[in-house]
Amino acid sequence: MYLFKQKDTLDRHLSTARNNDKRIGFVPTMGALHHGHLSLIAKAKETCDLVVCSIFVNPTQFNDPSDFEKYPVTIDNDILQLTDAGTDVLFLPSVQEMYPEGLDVKTHYDFGSLETILEGAHRPGHFQGVGQVVHKLLNLVKPDQLFMGQKDFQQCLIVNRLLKLIDSKAQLVVCPTLREPDGLAMSSRNMRLNATERQNALHIYKALIYVKGNIHKASFSEILNNASNQLKMNGFDVDYIELVSMEEDGSVTFPKATGNRPVYAVIAAREISSDVRLIDNMLM
Ligand code: PAF
Repeated sequence: MYLFKQKDTLDRHLSTARNNDKRIGFVPTMGALHHGHLSLIAKAKETCDLVVCSIFVNPTQFNDPSDFEKYPVTIDNDILQLTDAGTDVLFLPSVQEMYPEGLDVKTHYDFGSLETILEGAHRPGHFQGVGQVVHKLLNLVKPDQLFMGQKDFQQCLIVNRLLKLIDSKAQLVVCPTLREPDGLAMSSRNMRLNATERQNALHIYKALIYVKGNIHKASFSEILNNASNQLKMNGFDVDYIELVSMEEDGSVTFPKATGNRPVYAVIAAREISSDVRLIDNMLM
């Protein structure tokens, strides 16, 4: 695996690959890699000739400074895992390399209502930061395909929108959420949970399963209330638990009952004893 820390050396390497008609697959990450990330690399290897992964904990997308400071960093282990997975190139830039102009957000992306609901409502500025860094990375890697995980449901919709806004030729491939054997969605933030908190985190998955199993038995609001109360009783602050569907234009609506469109339950809650905020979602 080639490791580049500088944009110009990465660019030189990828230009050669592009000139040789290599199809480039790109997996952007913030490190602390787990099997979920590795499944994205595996998927990219199926359809691309060259797989590029980036590890960059992007400061501009953290609205909560302590979340940024506590974000797990496991770079040596990440490199081993990426090498084993057959990754061709790792891009590991510094903050200065990515933001030579400073961290103040200069470009504003019009993500419409996608930016003010769910994660957007609870993490102001988060999606502008995601847009900023993904835009920079796309300009650099110029991938044919971009691989992201379904766990970050709204991020996938935002990136899809970004690709249109910046007229990118990259195709977004959304890959299924990987779960631990007991159902907990794999996440880098799980590393911050001790054994008891890790066990407690399972209530997020249980809430989704409860909603899925009861969606036709009462009104949406009643089911969501029950699920939210269960989480609160088990030591969570619930930011939101909602049923949403995706419209053809890429926007998200909050239906009152199941219709023709697929409905997803989406959840964000903070496990209070660990102070770790977790998100998850499930197709109903
Ligand atoms: O999902 C993530 O890890 C990050 O939001 C991403 C897409 C790498 C941008 O920093």
